[in-house]
Amino acid sequence: MRTKGLKIFAGNSNRKLAESICSILEVPLGHARIEKFPDGEIDVKIEEDIRGVDTFFIQSTSPPVNDNLMECLLFADAARRASAERITAVVPYYGYARKDRKDEGRVPISAKMVANCMVSAGFDRVLTMDLHAAQIQGFFDIPVDHLYAAPVINEYFENLKTNHGIKNMTIVSPDVGRSKVARGYAKRLNAGLAIVDKRRVSGEETEVMDMIGNVDGQVCVLIDDMIATGGSIVDAAKACLKFGAKEVYVACTHALFCGPAVERLKNAPIKECIVTDTVPIEGKEFGTLKVLSVSKLLATAIRNIHFNESVSLLFKG
Ligand code: R5P
Repeated sequence: MRTKGLKIFAGNSNRKLAESICSILEVPLGHARIEKFPDGEIDVKIEEDIRGVDTFFIQSTSPPVNDNLMECLLFADAARRASAERITAVVPYYGYARKDRKDEGRVPISAKMVANCMVSAGFDRVLTMDLHAAQIQGFFDIPVDHLYAAPVINEYFENLKTNHGIKNMTIVSPDVGRSKVARGYAKRLNAGLAIVDKRRVSGEETEVMDMIGNVDGQVCVLIDDMIATGGSIVDAAKACLKFGAKEVYVACTHALFCGPAVERLKNAPIKECIVTDTVPIEGKEFGTLKVLSVSKLLATAIRNIHFNESVSLLFKG
């Protein structure tokens, strides 16, 4: 069956990003009413005909995580029952991703369970960005296009290097798990590489054990996929300075900024904190924060998916 065109809808998690994507693609944001009943249940009504339409739903599963996830699932069900030709979940930030394996007895693999729910609800494909672990792609038995914010973040640091004549840049991974990602940045930015040896004490607290590699006299750039409470990144920044770094920049894709994060980051010895707009940060701004937009990357991917063109060129992060 031939597609009757493209329509883009959004949940309540990040309307600003959705509007910006629609404006780049020059398509209006579709009308869907997504509200709550007095008892907290979510109600969805798609207010446009989508029969035979290539339908995209933009929704980060950021806090309030469960409401945003439920909006996503209910939209898919509504769109499937409304005979959409294809339904793509555009999930710039995929929540529940940190539980991606059984690391102890009697715990769920939440990232897999959420993927199952999304497929059962009716999504035909997923477009996402900087998953906490790339192998989560395999948790979905439908196509997943996994983008990286790296092209946007790299461009920022390329310019910083040029404009400030920085010759001694070192990319620092805040834990061993993200060292491969950090190595990619180091290669592209022609910078050194160091790794913080971190131990998680609790959900909010971490402890730095050691620094692997040399940061003495270096302009350090700490790269992480997300900042939640800010514990990991602030401790890592302090560790860089303790081991002799000249100054510390922080770059992360998903600025969840929960609990004490903003206060911690405001008071941290961080020159600049660079984040993207995968989750909304209105009301959480502070002096050293800079927000880069990934709307162009996502808009290009949506366009290419719609026209059955390759998206792999966008993966070169
Ligand atoms: C850890 O594996 C992640 O990449 C982040 O470093 C971590 O989840 C951030 O959490 P928080 O900001 O609460 O330390």
